[in-house]
Amino acid sequence: MTDNSSVHKEILKLRKEIDEHNYKYYVLSQTSITDKEYDDLYKRLQELEEAYPEFKTNDSPTARIGAEPLSVFPPYAHPAPMLSLENSYNLSDLRNWEIRNLRLLGNDVSLDLFGGGLEYFVELKIDGVSISLLYENGKLELGATRGNGFVGEMVTENIKTIKSIPLHLRKELTGSFIVRGEIYMSKPSFNKINTERQKKGDSLFANPRNAASGSLKILDPTVVAERKLSFFAYEAIYDGNDKNVIPDKQSEMLKFLKDMGFPVNPYGTILGSINGLEDFAQRWEENRESLEYEIDGLVIKINNRSLYDRLGKTAKAPRYAIAYKFTAHQAKTRLLDVIWQVGRTGIVTPTAVMEEVFLAGTKVKRATLHNIDFITDLDLKIGDNIFIEKGGDIIPKVVTVIKEERSGDEEEIKIPEICPACSSPLTRLEEESGIWCTNWNCPAQMERKLTHFASREALNIEGLGEAIVTQLVQKKLIEHVLDIYRIKLEDLLQLERMGKKSASKLLNAIEMSKKQSAEKLLFAIGIRHVGITVAKLLIQVYGSIEILKDLSEESLSSIQTIGPKIASSIVSFFRTQPEIIDRLKEIGFNLAEIPSLNENLILSGKTFLFTGELNSYTRPEAKEKVEKLGGIVKDTIVKNLDYVVAGNKPGGKLEKARKLNLRVIYEEEFLQIIEGS
Ligand code: IVH
Repeated sequence: MTDNSSVHKEILKLRKEIDEHNYKYYVLSQTSITDKEYDDLYKRLQELEEAYPEFKTNDSPTARIGAEPLSVFPPYAHPAPMLSLENSYNLSDLRNWEIRNLRLLGNDVSLDLFGGGLEYFVELKIDGVSISLLYENGKLELGATRGNGFVGEMVTENIKTIKSIPLHLRKELTGSFIVRGEIYMSKPSFNKINTERQKKGDSLFANPRNAASGSLKILDPTVVAERKLSFFAYEAIYDGNDKNVIPDKQSEMLKFLKDMGFPVNPYGTILGSINGLEDFAQRWEENRESLEYEIDGLVIKINNRSLYDRLGKTAKAPRYAIAYKFTAHQAKTRLLDVIWQVGRTGIVTPTAVMEEVFLAGTKVKRATLHNIDFITDLDLKIGDNIFIEKGGDIIPKVVTVIKEERSGDEEEIKIPEICPACSSPLTRLEEESGIWCTNWNCPAQMERKLTHFASREALNIEGLGEAIVTQLVQKKLIEHVLDIYRIKLEDLLQLERMGKKSASKLLNAIEMSKKQSAEKLLFAIGIRHVGITVAKLLIQVYGSIEILKDLSEESLSSIQTIGPKIASSIVSFFRTQPEIIDRLKEIGFNLAEIPSLNENLILSGKTFLFTGELNSYTRPEAKEKVEKLGGIVKDTIVKNLDYVVAGNKPGGKLEKARKLNLRVIYEEEFLQIIEGS
């Protein structure tokens, strides 16, 4: 017992230390520790919590990751609606707003009046998504999106992955405390994610706001954690006992939020009068590029919060605040042509070619047109005079067609029927607004297809990474994915930094890949919408890739979890690639399911030891399960055991295991391991 309580103390101390470092880093922007030191603290905490799960809590720093994926986000009715803001674009809009407020407040505000106006607090308008966080008795209970303002979606587990959002308040506070603010993605994180997406051939996010809102809606929190979202708090609502908890000036309230553990944007400023705003706005319009995050304007708030209720609200916005939007950068030009390009996934997208103009300091002559629907909605024609705009997006977009200026000579934009890279017919897949080149051998898609084909999750051809693939394609050593099986030692030796040893190693890996299972091969081929899970399922049901070639959409869709999108993609793949089955056979692949070799089993080589009783299985049953999956069950504790499974009433082996720092897991995790197969 004494032993346990000292462990508990250490756990509490570690959590406090980690929280404190987080606070210094994310709220005070100070570095107080090296990454390595931080990681060591975190790892130590993780180990202790693993070994003593009775001390796990959901507000521990380790609870930020590892939550199970959800199937939906449950709805959440906001206790106080999340309104939006009225917009203003110039000083005269702001004056009108001020006059209306003064009139509503009557003479009561005479004390606030300096030179005929109120005192204001101006904040940057962060271009992200608003979020509401609920703390109950100091602990983060829930995070919800704005939704329609009244009902949002609970995205709590995703919110917890954002390290700058505290899991508990720094100061005690009983009752419900709501903090609202903006979740955003910094420009560096945005660029990094888009670069990665481009490499993978995934569609790009148009701007950091879309990336942030898309990321919040991912059902798997582990993926959200990789998106590196950030947060600024700007509002607090408290209806607990002590009404004086929240300061009655906005400027002070933000300091209070900071003390409570929340990151607050540092550029908020008190303005003695609305006249100061123009200078302030101009400064930020010029400086916005230098910020690490996107802003789309300013928010001007009356600093005296005690006036907020008295001013009330309109249907959608409170009167105490107003947004001052920066003007989007627009320019007028003429559409000269539309070119169509095939992306690495096969999607064919239109780009506008325009007369060159200056826009936001740079020369531009290309703009994105997204897809066919976008062109149809704008009713755009070649020769049209148009307005283009550079908002938060990197690439300018066409926003308006000036139809009044049409001469009658404008021409319809022709939608291509054949692929601009390989001339094969294009497909318009149902339910998707794009047009696609589904030719497996399309040169524009080759590099990506081959990289996927060779990737670890697919055929696992070690040494055939992106750099090598690019060279092989550039040097015209291969034209199609399967040409990789014709490659010779002399070919490989032509590549940069490729010695004899690594070349023959690669050749060997290519040869070995022919032995991979049918499901991996099916996944490797890269049929749209056929991921590894679907591939496994198809092989389980049909037993062979060859059979898939002659199936109809109806028979495929009769399998549960195979929807019309997947079915139509499979049918269209084999229709356009009739020769592929024969080619795979010629190479020597096994297209049918073969009893898996031990190496492919998920627990192959892993060692287990059981101590205590499990609820779900008897000991022999558990042993059989592990062995079926390729694992080995030991009876005695040894140094290199992979898992020690502790059931009810574990014996002395558990203690021994802990002393040796072995990985101890409990029934739930054991079941996840064996059932996740
Ligand atoms: S105050 C009643 N302050 O702008 C809403 N909003 O266009 C009170 N926003 O929905 C909002 N930065 O998502 C406020 N410093 C800031 C803000 C801010 C960004 C967003 C917020 C709001 C939207 C309105």
